[in-house]
Amino acid sequence: MTIKQHFTYLKFTIILIATFGKLSAQVITIPIETSSKAVVLQVGADKQLRTIYMGQKLADSKEYESISNEYKQTEDHAGLLNSAYTPSGARNLVEPAITVTHTDGNQSLDLRYVSHEVKTVSEGVSLLTVTLQDNVYNFYVTLCYKSYNKNDVIEQWSIIRHNEKSSVTLQKFASANLHIKGNGFWLKQFHGDWAKEMQPEESKLTHGIKTIDSKLGTRANLFMPSVFAISMGSPAHEDEGSVLLGGLEWSGNFKVDFEVDNQDNLRLIAGMNNYASAYKLKAGDEFATPPLVYTLSNQGTGYASRNLQSWARNFKILEGKGNRLTLLNNWEATYFDFNEQKLGELLKDTRKLGVDLFLLDDGWFGNNYPRNGDNAGLGDWQENRKKLPNGIASIARQAAADGVKFGIWIEPEMVNPKSNLYKNHPDWVVKQPKRDEYYFRNQLALDLSNPKVQDFVYHIVDSLFIKAPSLAYIKWDCNAVIYNAYSVYLKSEQSNFYVEYVRGLYKVLQKIRAKYPTVPIMLCSGGGGRVDYGALQYFTEFWPSDNTDPMERIFIQWNYSYFYPAIATSAHVTDWGKQPIKFRTDVAMMGKLGFDIVLDKLSSSDMQFCQQAVVNYNSIKEVIWHGDQYRLRSPYEHNMASMMYVDEAKTSAVIFNYLVNNRYGESSRLPVKLKGLDPQKRYRIEEVNVYPGTRTSINSNFQLSGDFLMNVGINPDVNAQRTSVILKIVQVK
Ligand code: GLA
Repeated sequence: MTIKQHFTYLKFTIILIATFGKLSAQVITIPIETSSKAVVLQVGADKQLRTIYMGQKLADSKEYESISNEYKQTEDHAGLLNSAYTPSGARNLVEPAITVTHTDGNQSLDLRYVSHEVKTVSEGVSLLTVTLQDNVYNFYVTLCYKSYNKNDVIEQWSIIRHNEKSSVTLQKFASANLHIKGNGFWLKQFHGDWAKEMQPEESKLTHGIKTIDSKLGTRANLFMPSVFAISMGSPAHEDEGSVLLGGLEWSGNFKVDFEVDNQDNLRLIAGMNNYASAYKLKAGDEFATPPLVYTLSNQGTGYASRNLQSWARNFKILEGKGNRLTLLNNWEATYFDFNEQKLGELLKDTRKLGVDLFLLDDGWFGNNYPRNGDNAGLGDWQENRKKLPNGIASIARQAAADGVKFGIWIEPEMVNPKSNLYKNHPDWVVKQPKRDEYYFRNQLALDLSNPKVQDFVYHIVDSLFIKAPSLAYIKWDCNAVIYNAYSVYLKSEQSNFYVEYVRGLYKVLQKIRAKYPTVPIMLCSGGGGRVDYGALQYFTEFWPSDNTDPMERIFIQWNYSYFYPAIATSAHVTDWGKQPIKFRTDVAMMGKLGFDIVLDKLSSSDMQFCQQAVVNYNSIKEVIWHGDQYRLRSPYEHNMASMMYVDEAKTSAVIFNYLVNNRYGESSRLPVKLKGLDPQKRYRIEEVNVYPGTRTSINSNFQLSGDFLMNVGINPDVNAQRTSVILKIVQVK
C-alpha cells in the first residue's frame, strides 16, 4: 500500500468511528488486492492482527472497513478465531499457527501489531510485510504476503526471530494462517502411493480439525501431497463456484490443518510439519518458513488452475517461459542391462525418432558394487567400467556426433549399504546409531543437513558437467523415505533435522543453479513423490508417476493439472497398458513428450506413426507449453476425457480427446463445447496424429466460428475405433 492509500484508510476508519461509534481510533485496515480478489487484514484497538475478508475485490476499497459489521456469528470468546497468525499459550483456545518455549521455559505468546509496509517487487508483484511483537518477550514474527496481481495468486509465509537470552524452541511454526468465512467448506485432497499418485477425494469439512500431512522426510508426497482445493458454499465445479487452490512450497514434511471453528468459519493453518521437529532458534537468527501459495476463484476450479499455472510459468518454475527437450529414455527399454554398444544403438534410435535428447537412466555407475540392480552402487558415482569403459564423456561425444543431446539419471541424496560411500562415510548416512537399519528400495538417505554431504552432492552434479560439458539434461531421482531419522552432524539438535535436511537440499540446488542456471533437470521421486513449488523453482519439469499406463495417466495428469502446468509435466510413451501406440502417444503429448520404448520392436507403421507424432508435437508444443489449459470433459464424469490448450492470442488451440470407457459401445455422442476462443474469429479444425493407413472423419475444410465452437461445440468422433483423437484448431484469417 502506498503511504497515500494508507492514510486514506486511516482517515476512513476515523470517519467510521464517528459514524458507528464501535471502532476505536487505532483500527487499521490493510487490504491485499489482486486484479479481482482481496485478502483484508485489520488491526484492532487491541493491536491484534486479524483476517477479516478473503474474496472478491470490492470496487471501493474503503468498504472493506464495514465487512465485519455484517457478520452476526456466535461469540469468539478469545477474540482470536480470525487471528492472522494465532499464537498459543496465552488466551487462544484454538489451533495455533505458532507455539514457542521461551528461554525461561515460559510457553505463552501474544503477538501484537507493530508496523507494516508494502513494497513493489516487480511489475504487478507486491510484498506486504506486517511485523508483530510479543508484548512481554523480545519475540517477533513478520508476516509476508506476496501478491501477483494478474494471476490472483498470493504467496504467504512468516519469518520468526527473537532477541531472548539464549535459544527459543519453536514447537510450531506455520507459514500461513488463513481465515475464510462461508456457508460450508468442501476439501478436495489427493492421496496415493507408488504408481497411484494424485487420487482425488472430496468431503465436507465438519467441525474440528482435518489434517493432511507428511512425516516421510524425503519423497514426502508419496502418500499425499500438500496441494488441496477448498470450495466455499458448495463443491466447486470446473466453471462455477468459489474455490481456493493451494499448496505448500516445501519438499519435506508438511502439515495443513483445516479447522471449522465454533463460529462455523474455516481456519486454515499450513506449514512445515512440526512432527519431531521442535526447532532451536538462536537469538538473532531468522527462521523463514516456506510460502503457502494459493489462488481464489469465484468462477470454479478451471479459472483457478489457469491462474496458478500461469503464475507458475511466469514466476516459479525454472524456465517456465522457455523451451523443453523431447527425449528417448532407456529405463523401461533396458533397465540396468546395457553397454556402450547398446547405448550407441539407442543414440541412433533417438535420432531416427526425431526427439531432441537421449536420457541414460539408472545403472551406469558403481564398480566395487556395480549398479546392476536396485540393491547396490548408489553413492558411487563413477562410471561402471564394464558397461561404460570409455566413460560418459565418450557417450556424450557420440551423441553429439549423432546429432542428439545427452542426459543422465542420478539419485544423489541416497546410498545403498552395498557401496563404497556407505563403507567410507557411515557418519553421512541417516540412521539411528543403536537401532537396526530399515530400508526403502534397499537404500538410505544421506544427511543433507551436513555441509560436507551438501558439497558431496553438489560435486556429483558438477563433475558430470566437467566430464561431459555437453551434458544437456539431468533426471534427479529420490526413491526412499526417511526411516530412523538421526543426524550425526546435528549432535544434540536432532529435532532440527527434518527442517535442515530440506534446507540443505535447497542450498545444493541453489549452488547448482548458480553455476548451471538453465540446464533442464527433471524432478523425480520414484514417480511423483516430491512435486511441489519449493523444489520446482530449481527444476524445469517433474515426473508425475512411474505409472505410464495411458488410461491411468489420463486421470493422474488430469489431477496434477489442477496445480501444475503441462510444460512441467513429463509424460512418456511406454509399454505400460494395453492401448495401441497411438493412444499411448496421444496421452503423452498432453504434457512434455518423451518415449521409453524399444524402437526396434515397433512395426514399421508404429515407427512411422511415432516419427510423425514427434513432428506434430513440435508443431503444437508451443500452445501446450505456454497456452491456457481448459479441462473440457472430465474422465470422472464422462465416458471420454477432453483437454484443451489455447494460445494467448486465441489464434490456435489443440484438443485431446480420449475414450475412457468402452462399455456398451460408448462414443462422443454429444459435441464437446470448446472454451477460451474468440467468438468473433473463424477457425479451421484439423485432426492430427492420424495413424498411418487410417482416415480421419473430421472434415478439415470446414470453418466454424468461435461462437459456434464454444456454444454448440464440435464432435471429435471418439468411439471404439477412434479411441483417441487430437484436434488442432487454427484461426482462418
Ligand atoms: C525410479 C524412477 C524411474 C526410474 C527408476 C530407476 O523408480 O521413478 O523412472 O528412473 O527409479 O531406478
